Amino acid sequence: PLVSMRQVLDHAAENGYGVPAFNVNNLEQIQAILQAADATNSPVILQASAGARKYAGEQFLKNLIEGALASYPHLPIVMHQDHGVSPAVCISAIRFGFSSVMMDGSLREDGKTPSDFDYNVNVSREVVKLAHACGVSVEGELGCLGSLETGHGEAEDGIGSHRALSRDEMLTDPAEAKRFVDATGVDALAIAIGTSHGAYKFTSPPTGEVLAIDRVREIHEAIPNTHLVMHGASSVPQDLQDIIRQYGGALKPTWGVPVEEMQRAIQFGVRKINIDTDLRLAMTGAIRKTMAEKPSEFDPRTYLKPAIAAMRAVCEARYLAFGAAGQA
Ligand code: G3H
Ligand code: 13P
Ligand code: NA
Ligand code: ZN
Repeated sequence: PLVSMRQVLDHAAENGYGVPAFNVNNLEQIQAILQAADATNSPVILQASAGARKYAGEQFLKNLIEGALASYPHLPIVMHQDHGVSPAVCISAIRFGFSSVMMDGSLREDGKTPSDFDYNVNVSREVVKLAHACGVSVEGELGCLGSLETGHGEAEDGIGSHRALSRDEMLTDPAEAKRFVDATGVDALAIAIGTSHGAYKFTSPPTGEVLAIDRVREIHEAIPNTHLVMHGASSVPQDLQDIIRQYGGALKPTWGVPVEEMQRAIQFGVRKINIDTDLRLAMTGAIRKTMAEKPSEFDPRTYLKPAIAAMRAVCEARYLAFGAAGQA
């Protein structure tokens, strides 16, 4: 059934596991996730960005997710708006039947410029008030996603021309997180602990800790009843990159977040782990490989079936690694 994020993450917190939240845009991605969740008996968070809603078309996306609900009635499924840039986006998602929304007020409505604390509190509080009246959960965000390796935040910082940020400027501050949660009542909070979106997270193989794991523990202690969310949590596996390169793709050398580090973050209080890039890599590699190996085939199912299988394998691995398997 369709459930709220709060229900799924409360259970995860009580039982000490993490739930991967996978981005979806089309039928094949939804099938891959549900097959993986069904095989491992895991709770499901399907999340759609504004770009996903635009790509698929609102009604198609809604009906695809309704197809998942009807086909897997035994699994709890959350339909979550990823990175809503304004209350208006979140309200339209609620009207459309989403059971959870992210109000990313860490950025202005352009989705690029960092906002100030008061703006973030105001928009997040407004969304919480409306969403909770409808039984919908809310995720907020506080802090600046970016790599601790370079000190470069993802957002255009506006403080001079992209100067490197200090560790403290980038990471979520535990005392501020407490003030934010007290003022807004969000159910979940995305925190900055050294992750960034996309395939290019780190330029060399990890030696030691790449994330600020201590900070996770400190934030969790400050806001124990708010579920912590890790964005930019793809591990960008070298084997998936290699398949893409082997069949003509052009990826620069890159490294992601080691799965063991995510497991440590879960131990310290992270409950929702956002993954998109790894799924993109898996599907693209499988499609490239099939097209190269079977050049005479032109039925899309020929390459989409292995693409689903490759994505499903990543989803199953994450359900198992995060302890969500067996928890549905
Ligand atoms: O946070 C971004 C997600 O990876 C979704 O990406 O906006 O290209 O759909 P998108
Ligand atoms: P990745 O790009 O690391 O997969 O992160 C996805 C994400 O955070 C979506 O909100
Ligand atoms: Na941010
Ligand atoms: Zn994100």
